[in-house]
Amino acid sequence: MSDFKNQTLLVTGASGNFGRLAVDELLARGATNVVAGTRDPAKLADLVAKGVRVVALDFDDEASLANAFAGVDRVLLISTDSVGRRIEQQRAAIAAAEAAGVKHIVYTSAPTPRPNPDGGVSPEHFWTEQALAASTLDWTALRNHLYAEVSLLSAASALQSGQWFDATAGRGRAYVSRADAARAAAGALLQAEGKSAHDVTGPAAVTQDELAALVAKLAGKPIARIGLTVEQLKGGMLAAGLDPHMVDILVAFDADAAEGYHDIVSGTVEHFSGRRPQALADFLQANAAALKA
Ligand SMILES: NC(=O)c1ccc[n+]([C@@H]2O[C@H](COP(=O)([O-])OP(=O)(O)OC[C@H]3O[C@@H](n4cnc5c(N)ncnc54)[C@H](OP(=O)(O)O)[C@@H]3O)[C@@H](O)[C@H]2O)c1
Repeated sequence: MSDFKNQTLLVTGASGNFGRLAVDELLARGATNVVAGTRDPAKLADLVAKGVRVVALDFDDEASLANAFAGVDRVLLISTDSVGRRIEQQRAAIAAAEAAGVKHIVYTSAPTPRPNPDGGVSPEHFWTEQALAASTLDWTALRNHLYAEVSLLSAASALQSGQWFDATAGRGRAYVSRADAARAAAGALLQAEGKSAHDVTGPAAVTQDELAALVAKLAGKPIARIGLTVEQLKGGMLAAGLDPHMVDILVAFDADAAEGYHDIVSGTVEHFSGRRPQALADFLQANAAALKA
């Protein structure tokens, strides 16, 4: 693998959780020209003291993209949190990077992205990967599986009700911690070449039965796991008053898991970060206080 640590490396969305972790990892691995792009540079004032150049960057603002990408060799393009607007936003970022002469984009994608309309967040990642493939750039699509942090959200509602509902049909999910995924992304920005896509996963696929049992043990409370069909899960969430748009996203995650799209284990984290990914049980143990709160 090559080493691009002396090239100009830009991270978009650098004030987010993932962006901050990625910038820290680039610095820890000796990158010498790190640029942190964010909508709000004031939030990253602390990075300036570490030698990072902080620039205003907003996918909705073409001029900011042209300015931020000028002179940059490689970009870590972090998918935004504006679900529903991301195709347009991320296409604009890719076009601006191409126009500015960027050579390589690392993109935070999702498992097996597909264009099907009932696919939750999947189509936005699919069309972003398509835009990368149609560009003249080299690219690395890092298909981040569900963050281990997401399992804490499922755990919180299950601990409240004592019931763990899902429609994963007993298939596993290879949760990856956000920190492992961010370190892998920084590693890809430092090393990846060519055009390729990689699943970014934890070390094992864990079923919802196993997850509910781990959470119950750590919290010291019983949880009954209840397997549902996708239709039943959707009906239950809507009846509970959840936002219909959020319901579509959450149900699509379970439908994807039931199809086996989350039941994939790769060596990508270790390949790009040099560290073995954290097991879900260890992540939960480290966050046990949150489960007992
Ligand atoms: N795999 C999973 O389980 C999972 C779960 C949740 C989210 N995600 C995805 O992973 C991404 C990073 O996760 P996170 O935990 O770091 O989320 P986060 O802390 O909520 O950060 C959201 C990110 O979106 C960026 N952003 C929002 N609007 C933008 C715009 N107009 N132009 C450029 N950037 C914009 C923010 O950048 P600034 O504020 O610095 O401009 C920030 O980096 C999320 O945005 C989402 O796409 C994945």
